[in-house]
Amino acid sequence: MAVTRTFSIIKPDATRRNLTGAVTKMLEDAGLRVVASKRIHMTKEQAEGFYAVHKERPFFGELVDFMISGPVVVQVLEGEDAVKRNRDVMGATNPSDAADGTIRKTYAESIEANSVHGSDSDENAKIEIDYFFDADEIVG
Ligand code: TYD
Repeated sequence: MAVTRTFSIIKPDATRRNLTGAVTKMLEDAGLRVVASKRIHMTKEQAEGFYAVHKERPFFGELVDFMISGPVVVQVLEGEDAVKRNRDVMGATNPSDAADGTIRKTYAESIEANSVHGSDSDENAKIEIDYFFDADEIVG
């Protein structure tokens, strides 16, 4: 299996509850390495651009407002089959559907305040990494 990269966000509900370390530990324990990380407070334009694929969905406005409600930690994660590995440890979008031992089952508050984002394909991982990071900020 190839070593690849994915993009992660520790969302405002998790930073608010001081769970950055706890979430990162679950990512690391799943075999992912943090090769870039920064704490930012997204602008509305940044969040709308990031979630542009969802702009016609009914939850878009609330999702953007939630994502700018506090700081987030954006990360680049590296590991074998990183996209799938991260999606597996994140758990289902709705925490009530998420498997035991996943980040969302353990920490998420709701389908919206679900603690983490993770890219859903290698192609989107590259787009999302480039959206937030310059190449020289990633140290593998
Ligand atoms: P989605 O890409 O479907 O899920 P995932 O984060 O698991 O890849 O949705 C993106 C985010 O949109 C999701 O993490 C939380 C929010 N969302 C809602 O607020 N309500 C919803 O009904 C859905 C489907 C998503």
